[in-house]
Amino acid sequence: MRSFGLLFIALALLVVGVIGLALLSTGTLSLGTPTSDLAERGAIIFNIGSDPNGQPIPYTGGMMMRAACASCHGANGQGLHTPMFVSPNITYRNLTDPTGMVEPDGGHGMKYTDDLIRRAVTHGIDPDGQSLDPVMPRWQLTDAEWSALLAYLKTLL
Ligand code: HEC
Repeated sequence: MRSFGLLFIALALLVVGVIGLALLSTGTLSLGTPTSDLAERGAIIFNIGSDPNGQPIPYTGGMMMRAACASCHGANGQGLHTPMFVSPNITYRNLTDPTGMVEPDGGHGMKYTDDLIRRAVTHGIDPDGQSLDPVMPRWQLTDAEWSALLAYLKTLL
């Protein structure tokens, strides 16, 4: 009888473990959700232009005053029309639109991939290999900062 009890407990633990793994793999249950932490770090870069420790991320180009992505592309990354500059919609969905990104003038440009977005942000080069306007800063992002920023761009709709 005693060994039956132990067997029962062992089986019960196994069932709990299998259900737990299933929930983890479907994302119903999460252990610290690294993805959203990543996007939160990306939001700091997007909104403030600093790394999570508050250090300003260096860049070249841009305008006279220091600005973050949100200042020039709008709080939701949808792009802005200002007297000084016109900036495109940089939501991930727009940049990777299969028919090509929608430009501020309504026309379609090239379709970006993750690597091409990174090149545009860090080197100011568009998918055609052309230089972007120098108003768009060239950001010196580490690999970790880039991953965080990309994760955040994917949350913008
Ligand atoms: C000082 C204003 C300014 C800031 C700050 C800025 N951008 Fe831009 N960005 C622009 C402008 C203007 C363009 C359009 C350049 C062009 O069409 O040649 C642009 C273009 C881009 C493009 C290329 C889109 C296309 O039309 O091909 C991407 C991607 C982009 N920005 C992402 C970002 C990200 C991410 C940040 C923050 C890390 C950022 N930008 C910060 C002004 C800015």
